[in-house]
Amino acid sequence: MIFRQLFDQASGTYTYLLASRHGGEALIIDPVLEKVDRYLQLVRELDLELVKAVDTHLHADHITALGALRDKTSCVTVMGEQTKADVVSIRLADGDRLTVEGLALDAIYTPGHTDDSYSFAMPDRIFTGDTLLIRGTGRTDFQNGDPRQQYESIFGRLLKLPDETLVYPAHDYKGDTVSTIGEERAYNPRLQVASMEEYVELMNNPKLANPKMMDVAVPANMSIGFHQEEIARRGWAVTAQQALSLVGQPDVALIDLRERCERGRHGIIPGALHVPYTALQENIAAGGLLHELARSTGKQLLFYCAFGERSAMAVQAAQDAGLASAWHVEGGVDAWKKVNGPLAR
Ligand SMILES: [Fe+2]
Repeated sequence: MIFRQLFDQASGTYTYLLASRHGGEALIIDPVLEKVDRYLQLVRELDLELVKAVDTHLHADHITALGALRDKTSCVTVMGEQTKADVVSIRLADGDRLTVEGLALDAIYTPGHTDDSYSFAMPDRIFTGDTLLIRGTGRTDFQNGDPRQQYESIFGRLLKLPDETLVYPAHDYKGDTVSTIGEERAYNPRLQVASMEEYVELMNNPKLANPKMMDVAVPANMSIGFHQEEIARRGWAVTAQQALSLVGQPDVALIDLRERCERGRHGIIPGALHVPYTALQENIAAGGLLHELARSTGKQLLFYCAFGERSAMAVQAAQDAGLASAWHVEGGVDAWKKVNGPLAR
């Protein structure tokens, strides 16, 4: 496995780059905007293809690189379903799997620092965001933080993992890089409490100033979505309402870009072909299935995904590949549900 821990000095943020092999797909966790060029250089040097960029939660102390990485690499942006960030491509729920070629991370909902905090577990390690830090825990006094939830997340979920599980947090201000669950249970001063009430008491008196960048970072991180308006302005979008009458038409090929877990959880628009977004390029290039389908049958390609972000990027990519009859459903399945569009399970 390729595993790199990268550091942003200004915010004390750790960013993690993971891949199963050289030349393979890569995933990045908690990237920082100012470091985008460095990440992309490393991705090139290791001959990787960045396919997913993930934030463990809505950060208050730095601006996320999710939007910039998506714009530069067409990667998919991922956060938890509770997040208030606008158009994240994939919204995970507790128990979902975050996958790239050769790697799978289990999403564990661990609210408390924020109400959209997730941890991501592999068999030997866990990325804990700001839920569990090395000899500390993330503050709970803003962004819908809640010390009770955090106690549950830490004691009820994270500390249930095997002692030897490596802990990789989103921040460290002292220079520590990694810990283990067993070490934190034994030596983390915040975790030496006898009850939830004692923990709440401890967390309610943090006497901390707000992060320097909070007023800038929180609003910026809430609007990182791909601009679906731009695709609509070019006339390549249909509303969910319009899509209702297009589905089932013989000259329309409906294409579902979501991943298997999203399809299982939210259902499928009947008759759709399944082409996950990560397999899009090979399908729309000359010789690819979608390319030949559109060319030989004259069918229009109508893409959809969860919220319209991947499908908007797909339309752009298809147009770039010479497929002029590519459209997408604005707002995705989320909008489709609001117009009572049928979904098959
Ligand atoms: Fe945080």
